Amino acid sequence: MVNGDIIKAAGYQSGAVRPEYRGRGLYRDLMQRAYAWAEQAGYETGILLTDKPSLYQAYGFSVIPQFKFSGPPPVFKPKSDSNRRQLDVATAEDVGLLRDRLATRQPVSEQFAVVRQIEMFLLNAHFDASVHLTYLAEIDAVVAWTWGNDGCFKLLDIVAREMPHLDTVLSNLAIEPEHVEVYVTPDCLAWQGRPVAYEGSCALMMTGTRFEAREAFAMLSPMADF
Ligand SMILES: CC(C)(COP(=O)(O)OP(=O)(O)OC[C@H]1O[C@@H](n2cnc3c(N)ncnc32)[C@H](O)[C@@H]1OP(=O)(O)O)[C@@H](O)C(=O)NCCC(=O)NCCS
Repeated sequence: MVNGDIIKAAGYQSGAVRPEYRGRGLYRDLMQRAYAWAEQAGYETGILLTDKPSLYQAYGFSVIPQFKFSGPPPVFKPKSDSNRRQLDVATAEDVGLLRDRLATRQPVSEQFAVVRQIEMFLLNAHFDASVHLTYLAEIDAVVAWTWGNDGCFKLLDIVAREMPHLDTVLSNLAIEPEHVEVYVTPDCLAWQGRPVAYEGSCALMMTGTRFEAREAFAMLSPMADF
């Protein structure tokens, strides 16, 4: 989802050439074939995360600056009796619930977010045991979140058919953080934080000039990392 439009995007992930075969143009050849295939298959854009942006600039990819959003929480009243439980991606029942919600989710942002990307969410949840996946039954939403070292609430993603506002999320989680950091573009959350440049280990890159200037405040959820 980019600025209200659903874009069919091809994601490029984990390309490598064995050390003894490097420097002979094999990667260039492979990627040129991949781009040609994606174009023919009707993908409107390419997207990738890389620590070597210069490798892709020649093919029309440009870096999309990412921002996290930081600020005080909205005003809300914690609901200590809210119907909530932690999900565990090691259990078939919870994976089933997650798959179902991920397949029918509203993108977390209208401005910049994945629409369908079930596998990476599950894999990222599996890889990072510090991520809480809390199912909030009253609003039928799964919230991916974690605590920062300084006690700040870090919101990583919300999986819901109808996007709840941040005050509702915090109220149903029944926690009272002093500070909030949001790792998605927060346009649907009825909350505004200060954008802070996000220094991830990899740069987010996309093809297509229409993504360059307008997405000044893009953030791809860490749960969508690939
Ligand atoms: C990066 C990697 C895939 C390049 O493979 P390769 O077969 O040696 O690359 P090629 O010989 O096809 O070179 C293709 C182009 O990339 C450039 N390039 C190669 N390695 C590069 C690097 N580390 N950083 C930036 N550009 C690089 C080459 O100069 C060449 O540029 P040109 O088309 O202008 O001549 C290989 O070094 C590798 O497997 N590295 C470890 C895994 C990795 O980093 N993968 C990329 C993940 S985003």
